[in-house]
Amino acid sequence: MTTVSDYFRDYAPKYDSFTLRAMPHYQEMLGEIVRCLPDRANDILDLGCGTGSLTALLARHYQNSAITAIDASAEMIELARDRLGSSAVSHDQVKFVESLFENLELPARAYDLIASNMSLHHIVDKAPFYRRLQEGLRPGGMLVLGDELAGALPRIQQLNWDGWLRFARDSGGLSDIEIEEIVRHEREFDHYETLPRQLELLRVSGFGSVDCVWRYLNYAVFVAQG
Ligand SMILES: C[S@@+](CC[C@H](N)C(=O)[O-])C[C@H]1O[C@@H](n2cnc3c(N)ncnc32)[C@H](O)[C@@H]1O
Repeated sequence: MTTVSDYFRDYAPKYDSFTLRAMPHYQEMLGEIVRCLPDRANDILDLGCGTGSLTALLARHYQNSAITAIDASAEMIELARDRLGSSAVSHDQVKFVESLFENLELPARAYDLIASNMSLHHIVDKAPFYRRLQEGLRPGGMLVLGDELAGALPRIQQLNWDGWLRFARDSGGLSDIEIEEIVRHEREFDHYETLPRQLELLRVSGFGSVDCVWRYLNYAVFVAQG
């Protein structure tokens, strides 16, 4: 059986260029995450750092912070290290940890900010995991989460799928084989929630205030606090 680490090991070298071709408004989504960041955060967790695109933005935004960046794939982490090394950011600011989210021991009340982009849809049973995140935050701490959703109505799901397909073919130039590969990955690894369900999951996990601040097709950015 292919694990998520196997998948991203093979995908790592082409991740950055392929993501720009396969994900509409990827940079805008990262920008929305940055827009919603709290003014101050000393201890930060980046879940599913991948090649470090969000990690680098966090490191630049909070220059005196301590960032722990988690990912299951050693190869993705290596690329994130390279990215941070070539920027003005010192390596000491960021600690990389190779781990599955599911195996992560999160210290209680240890973080001011937990951020993540396009990674937590890999988790099947989200409520217990979100609860651990809520418990990992200090009082007033914030979760800022970019992720992929499912449409809440079949018609909306179809429209969003059609919109994505148009982007992937016309703007991204993805071939049918590349599109099939994405669909296969989604079937094997991805567990999407609808927007109302995502808000509900965050609420039942103990976050008192939750909001969706941005959405395009099935991509969205959430903020949760408390
Ligand atoms: C689609 S990439 C997103 C990377 C980056 N955050 C971005 O915005 O480009 C998802 C990342 O999450 C990691 N990942 C997926 N499932 C995971 C799991 N269960 N535990 C730890 N990391 C996981 C993958 O290795 C991959 O690097």
